[in-house]
Amino acid sequence: MIPDDVDAYRVRKAALLGSLSGDVLEIGAGTGANFGYFRREVRWTGLEPNRRARATLREVARAHGHDTEVLDAPAERIPLPDASVSAVVATVVLCSVTDQDATLAEVIRVLRPGGRFVFFEHVAAPVGTWPRRLQRLSAPFSRVLDRGCDPARDTERAIRRAGFAEVTIERYAGLRWAGVPIPLIAGTGQV
Ligand SMILES: C[S@@+](CC[C@H](N)C(=O)[O-])C[C@H]1O[C@@H](n2cnc3c(N)ncnc32)[C@H](O)[C@@H]1O
Repeated sequence: MIPDDVDAYRVRKAALLGSLSGDVLEIGAGTGANFGYFRREVRWTGLEPNRRARATLREVARAHGHDTEVLDAPAERIPLPDASVSAVVATVVLCSVTDQDATLAEVIRVLRPGGRFVFFEHVAAPVGTWPRRLQRLSAPFSRVLDRGCDPARDTERAIRRAGFAEVTIERYAGLRWAGVPIPLIAGTGQV
């Protein structure tokens, strides 16, 4: 990552995740990398379809004082009632889900009125650039080797058209992987 971006991105992540309260659903929670950011009083529920990650996630969640069950489901079919959570968090998940539109529709469905979707994602480089071409070429490999990750997705567009009442997105110049810049976005979708 470019140094200024590293700092700005981390500061934003700490601020946004640290601002959440109430019932927070984290989709594609992996092995629990975000626990350090959440307030202690947050009522956290995780969703993670990968069996091995889920086992670790349960232990890490307990170690952070969260006894809630981790949901074994894809984000395209969240097993929670309509309007049941205050916030949904996704960090580097929309690159991996099978269906972004179905996932975002589910996020909107489970959020209470006034609730927020908070996301931190790596996204496709601009069309016609060599990083975009490299992302497309590497996608078949990363999908197999990196739990479904497709680096060439236009996630910003998917979020903007999903149907949130208000969307705020910040762009960061991004990570560098093998010298290739990978743009990042961070932001919120309000219902
Ligand atoms: C790159 S990891 C990120 C994990 C974690 N959010 C983090 O920031 O460290 C992507 C995660 O999305 C999960 N995932 C893949 N497909 C998914 C789906 N359809 N629904 C929910 N999560 C999914 C993977 O199992 C993996 O844990």
